[in-house]
Amino acid sequence: MSYGEDAPTKRRVVTIPYLKEKKAKGNAITMLTAYDFPTASIQDELGIDIILCGDSLGMTVYGYKGTVPVTMEQMVAHSEAVKRGAPHCFVIGDMPFMSYQVSVEQAVTNAGRFMKEAGVDGVKLEGGVDVADRVRAITKAGIPVMGHIGLTPQSVSALGGFKAQGRDVSGALKLIEDALALEEAGAFAVLLEAMPPELGKIISERAGIPIIGIGAGPYTDGQVLVVHDALGFFEGHVAKFVKQYANLNKVIKEGLQNYIDDVTNRTFPAPEHCYGMEPEVLKAIEAKLNQK
Ligand code: KIV
Repeated sequence: MSYGEDAPTKRRVVTIPYLKEKKAKGNAITMLTAYDFPTASIQDELGIDIILCGDSLGMTVYGYKGTVPVTMEQMVAHSEAVKRGAPHCFVIGDMPFMSYQVSVEQAVTNAGRFMKEAGVDGVKLEGGVDVADRVRAITKAGIPVMGHIGLTPQSVSALGGFKAQGRDVSGALKLIEDALALEEAGAFAVLLEAMPPELGKIISERAGIPIIGIGAGPYTDGQVLVVHDALGFFEGHVAKFVKQYANLNKVIKEGLQNYIDDVTNRTFPAPEHCYGMEPEVLKAIEAKLNQK
C-alpha cells in the first residue's frame, strides 16, 4: 500500500476477549512496538495482535539516552499516528514518566487523553503493587490497562541500571505479588521485562490475564520486541533477549549510499523519472523568451 490509502480490511479486529481466548487456547499473542503510521500499517497488514506505541520512542525516534524525558505530547501524537495505521490491532499508548506517578487523578486524566486524543485501545504503565490504585481508577473509568513489571525503564536509576530482575527468592516473590495485584486491580494484561523464564512461567500460569514477555522466556502467553531491535535498525549493542529478524541498518545504508552516488554522478534522475514536454512547446517557450 502507499501512504494515505486505506489499510487492507480482511483481518479481524483484536479485542480483549480475543486476547483472553488466545491465552485460554495456548495460542501465542504477538506484540511489537511501533511509533509511526507506515510501521503500524505493515504490522496491521501482517496480523500482529497488539501494537505498543512505547515510550522507548525516546531512544528509537528522539535519540534520548532513556525514556525519562518523553512527554505526554510526544506519546499522544505518535500513538494517534500508530492507531490510524493499525485499525485492526489492539493499540496501546505507553504512559510516560511522571504522567501517572503524581496522583490517581493525574493518572486517570492522562490515560483519558490517550483515549480521546490518540484514539488508542488501552494504556500501559510501569509498576506493581505501588501503582495498583492507578490501575484500578483508570480501569474504573473504562480504559483498559496493561501493567509492566520487572525491568521498568522509567525507574532504571532506582533499579541500579538495565539489569534482569527477580533472580533471587525475595525479588521473584515480589514480582509474583506485583503481577497478581495488577490483575486484581483490573489490568487486562501484564508485560514482564527481563526476568528468568521460570518466573515468566509461574506468573503466566498463576495469572488469569494474558502475560506478555520481553526477555522473560518462552512460557509467557505472548512476546513483544521493540521493532527497531527486531529489524536491526541501529548498529551496536542489543540486549541479550533481542533476536534480530532483519538488518535494516545495512539495507538503509546501501540504499542511501546508492542514492548519494547517483546524485553525485548525475545518474539520477534518469529519463524515466522525468516529465515529458513536446518539442513544439519547448520551441514556443524559447521563441517567446528570445523576443524579450
Ligand atoms: O516502551 C517500550 O517499548 C516497552 C518495551 C518493554 C516493549 O515498554
